[in-house]
Amino acid sequence: MRRVATLRQILVLPVVAALLYGAGSLAAFPAPARAPTAMAATASPYATDAALAVLDDGGNAIDAAVAAALVISVVNPFDAGLGGGGFAVVHLAGREDKPAVTRALDFRERAPAAATRDLYLGADGKVVEGLSLDGHKSVAVPGTVAGLRELHKAHGRLPWRLVVKPAVDLARNGFVVGEEWVGSFEWRKEVVTRFAATRAAFMKHDSAGAEVPYQRGDVLKQRDLARTLQDLARDPRSFYEGRVAQAIVEEMQQGGGLVTAEDLRGYQPVWREPLCAPWRELELCTMPPPSSGGVALFEVLRLLDGVDLRGLGWHHPDALHRLIESMRIAYADRAEHLGDPAFTRVPVAELTSPAYAALRRTGIDDRRAKKSGDVKAANEAQLASLKKESSDTSHLSVVDGERNAVSLTFTVNYGFGSGVVVPGTGVLLNDEMDDFAAAPGVPNAFGLVGGEANSVQPGKVPLSSMTPLVATKGGQFFLAAGSPGGSTIITTVLQTLLHVVDYDMDCQAAVAAPRLHHQWLPESTRLEALGFDTATKGALELRGHSFTVTGGWGNAMCIRALDDGTLEGGADPRGEGVARGR
Ligand code: GLY
Repeated sequence: MRRVATLRQILVLPVVAALLYGAGSLAAFPAPARAPTAMAATASPYATDAALAVLDDGGNAIDAAVAAALVISVVNPFDAGLGGGGFAVVHLAGREDKPAVTRALDFRERAPAAATRDLYLGADGKVVEGLSLDGHKSVAVPGTVAGLRELHKAHGRLPWRLVVKPAVDLARNGFVVGEEWVGSFEWRKEVVTRFAATRAAFMKHDSAGAEVPYQRGDVLKQRDLARTLQDLARDPRSFYEGRVAQAIVEEMQQGGGLVTAEDLRGYQPVWREPLCAPWRELELCTMPPPSSGGVALFEVLRLLDGVDLRGLGWHHPDALHRLIESMRIAYADRAEHLGDPAFTRVPVAELTSPAYAALRRTGIDDRRAKKSGDVKAANEAQLASLKKESSDTSHLSVVDGERNAVSLTFTVNYGFGSGVVVPGTGVLLNDEMDDFAAAPGVPNAFGLVGGEANSVQPGKVPLSSMTPLVATKGGQFFLAAGSPGGSTIITTVLQTLLHVVDYDMDCQAAVAAPRLHHQWLPESTRLEALGFDTATKGALELRGHSFTVTGGWGNAMCIRALDDGTLEGGADPRGEGVARGR
């Protein structure tokens, strides 16, 4: 998950914004990709090309998405990989004999069986800094390999080994290191360089034999990872029961981690009913808990009902005020009510209901920003008063010629995850345990707080914000979008959707346009540098808003179907990804 602005972000975003405001028109953004048949939008040109090659070989969107995710695991391991987990929303186009269906796969990491509520507390009862984030104790049971295999088994078309091949080739033959790699390494250098196997995987030797970081333009080969991927091409269960599993367990034992052979053997991804609901003329489908993404996205959209965003215009202070106040409420509810539904009752239907939004809207003052301390999560009485409603309700998106679509977000959590590479495997392990609330009210790496609903418990899934989204119109694919960015994922996906649907932006403009983010706590709204003009900011400050201006965040991808039957794609200029089609 990207936390810092890379050099490219710092350079590109102001240029985009300057162009935008200079020209006074969204036409200043670069043109989106357009193609008649299929489209892939991923965080790396290598992954986009792998997806297209798989489609060329007769694969469908599921094959292509799996191939792309495996390639991301090789070229962007700091964002996502085999040692992490994720979610996928899959739209299977209807045929004469079969109606269209949208499914959601949860291959998120799970807490090891030995995890306890006070795992990250010291003898003084306080959270030990870094323990849930760096090193062996931060590692949860990985789900990526089982998840990708399940996706492929359920809906893929090509043989599994062909889908794994692009990743094997890139791991073996190497890829050219880019700015994102260099920036992420620099940011997490202290953790990454702690472990010998991680240094061996992710550092090179200079002419004097010293270990030094890779630089932009270097070719990075990962022979251990290539061997692991080759093993997985033959038998994906080897990650959970074979050579790789054994290596993970040995590394956990020697480093004080909790993941055991039983944890790995017992890991299974879960197909969940996606969270789907109508919005405008679309049907939106995204992840239910254990992601908070779907609930929070729908909550904000419902809170915005009745606000004439289009009429007000993009970044009008009245619209932004409502947006921020709605985010504030949704993230307050997230902190209190969201967690793994196997361990806590999550009031999904209530929080996403129009009735709840109507109730909370009355508390929004159009002239004044609320203090977050005065905005409480829904209380039991409010939840009980709501009539129950039906709940039928390094991101990458791929759409194929039949209009099957995959929206897949996966992660190792923080940059370079736990920093632990399992010796002999090339597999970098996640630090997803940091997505639990280590103690009530103590913020995690993304500044998110939580309580009992998201406490550490054995076998529990840490609460996520990942929000892979698929929208259909009249039952046909319309849009696939998503983003990395920890707590900001939900608001990035939200604004991408609003940009396309309410502000008539194309997919490229929608992901490039400057964004804001509010998450209840901290109090202030995050704004992208130069993304908002002084007058707009000033108008909001007069209403009591405070702002933290930062570099860009997120790395959104967007694909949509156009009225003429072709596809359009956009990749966030804050990253190095690309959308390309056929
Ligand atoms: N690791 C960030 C998330 O899942 O939201």
